[in-house]
Amino acid sequence: MYIKDLHLKNFRNYKVQHIQFQQGINLLIGSNGQGKTNIIEAINYLLTGKSYRIKQEDELILWEENSFYLNGIFNVVDRDINLESYYEPRKKVMKINQLSCKKLSDYVGTINAVFFSPDDLNIIKKGPQERRRFLDHLISQLRPAHIPLLNSYLRIIKQKNILLKSEKNYNLLKSQIQVWNEQLIELGLKIIKNRWDFTDRLNEYCSPIFNQIFSPEYNMDLIYLTTGKSLEEALENFPDYIFKKMAQEIERKAVLVGPHRDDVQIIFNNKEAKLFASQGQQRALVLCLKLAEMEIILNEKGEYPILLLDDVLSELDSYRRQYLMNYIRSSQKQTIITMTDLEEELITCDTPIFEVNKGRIRRKD
Ligand SMILES: Nc1ncnc2c1ncn2[C@@H]1O[C@H](COP(=O)(O)OP(=O)(O)OP(=O)(O)O)[C@@H](O)[C@H]1O
Ligand SMILES: [Mg+2]
Repeated sequence: MYIKDLHLKNFRNYKVQHIQFQQGINLLIGSNGQGKTNIIEAINYLLTGKSYRIKQEDELILWEENSFYLNGIFNVVDRDINLESYYEPRKKVMKINQLSCKKLSDYVGTINAVFFSPDDLNIIKKGPQERRRFLDHLISQLRPAHIPLLNSYLRIIKQKNILLKSEKNYNLLKSQIQVWNEQLIELGLKIIKNRWDFTDRLNEYCSPIFNQIFSPEYNMDLIYLTTGKSLEEALENFPDYIFKKMAQEIERKAVLVGPHRDDVQIIFNNKEAKLFASQGQQRALVLCLKLAEMEIILNEKGEYPILLLDDVLSELDSYRRQYLMNYIRSSQKQTIITMTDLEEELITCDTPIFEVNKGRIRRKD
């Protein structure tokens, strides 16, 4: 799948902009702060209805304006699909081929992309939330029903937390928590199962990539940390754990067990990558995860997703950079790469180069 056309209106630092992309590699070149990442963000927003960089959508509107509009024409399995996003405060419209989608889960996953930026190092470096987000994002692209599942689960966790912090008497609290727990179990079991399945798939696809990116004496493993050491055990234990923890939850006034506290442990060379892998090794591990994501989507959809590389090439060592370039060039994958300085090794005679300057884009001939 690939993006053919992108129109932006009042999005970030773009007033009105139209870009025609090509299949294969597309380069966005410009100094710092010109609007390269904003283009990647626009594509991501168009595909997912969300942006990883914002708290509120209002931040995406060009300053002094009241709304933004994005429109993209994508090609998937030899047909064109038009995606549109319009946003003004308190009004958000997402359309597929001119038809409005009521729910985000009807929209997400129509076109897929894998996005890789230097911030993805946080998947390894930071807390469990980053790893859950990475996994949930992948699941949501391929199983959009995971989105409402997560939303409902997190809504109940919020309600249960409010209840635990209230000053109700113990017995009343217990009976009300019981009601929430039953719903949490129903939703939580499905989330654990989805996440477990996708951790398995990531492991399967990471392995061969890992062996090429690192020398064979190293190994990599992903372990979904939840209520059991196997999926069967985790699913069996979860309802028991949630009820056993009730007294402790009431005492601590917080929800202590459930997939909102699970983690994906990333093991590198038999040790936790977060603690023992070097910065460069961590970056290469993220590269493995991202390329595994590409392969999983290819396997399900029959086409590669669009690869969006924001500023990552300069961060990799020459071997891994070359590996990534060979990966991009082999078989049909559209890749949009941003960088500050043009690197000759990336250019072939038909590589489009887009110069980004103060929220304007011009194709270099
Ligand atoms: N809502 C907005 N309205 C207008 N301009 C904005 C808005 N949000 C961000 N900007 C501007 O967009 C620019 C940043 O764009 P972007 O992050 O795409 O830069 P970049 O080209 O990727 O730079 P770098 O090389 O540093 O990553 C900044 O100049 C910022 O002031
Ligand atoms: Mg940038």
